Amino acid sequence: MRIDKFMTEAGLLSRKECAAAVKRGLIAIDGVPAKNAADHIDPEKVTVTYRGETVEYRAFTYLMLNKPAGYVSATDDRFLPYVVELVSPQLQKIGLFPAGRLDRDTTGLLVLTNDGKLAHALLTPRHHVEKKYRFTCESPLSPDAEARFAAGLTIGDYECKPAVLEADADRMGGIITLTEGKYHQIKRMLFAVDNACTSLCRISFGNIPLDETLAPGEYRFLTAEEIASLKAQA
Ligand code: URA
Repeated sequence: MRIDKFMTEAGLLSRKECAAAVKRGLIAIDGVPAKNAADHIDPEKVTVTYRGETVEYRAFTYLMLNKPAGYVSATDDRFLPYVVELVSPQLQKIGLFPAGRLDRDTTGLLVLTNDGKLAHALLTPRHHVEKKYRFTCESPLSPDAEARFAAGLTIGDYECKPAVLEADADRMGGIITLTEGKYHQIKRMLFAVDNACTSLCRISFGNIPLDETLAPGEYRFLTAEEIASLKAQA
């Protein structure tokens, strides 16, 4: 793999910036300053450093985005803001897509990756990967709402899998845990118990909680532990 491709995929530098960094002696391969950004390396066998820091090689990229309201969960859109445009120009070139969809007005944890196999495995209901959502609703939840979520609600002609509803003390919101992801599922589930969703934020995906230090619109790379945890669940 070319050094500039390696740096682009690591999300650190564009090809142009990489060429400039090589000229300034900022990139080293096994401790030896790189001569040309077009030179080939085997990322599995060498250690690449940039400004003295080791650059981890990952065949795929995994990001956690705190999705802001107003963005569609898509790689492109002609008219609306879309989540992939929130990442750096370098990262926009490596085929990232959202692993699952959040509605345009839903906020919170969205994983962006270019690992199609993992994304597919995380989203199939067969694998029961839990997603937790914090919500608020228009009126107090009915006393039987928890039991109805647990029994499996019907939305349209679809029978939902059992879901967990943990209501706040005032019953004007709470946390819902799903293991599937149908279109507008939580909004429709709340409608099925004679209520309406007024806000929705995904607070965890599998074992990974939303990083509270990320402001809406910010993202970071998943850690090696977080990636391993997602792979273990998929
Ligand atoms: N359920 C919804 O209704 N919307 C989302 O964005 C996610 C779950």
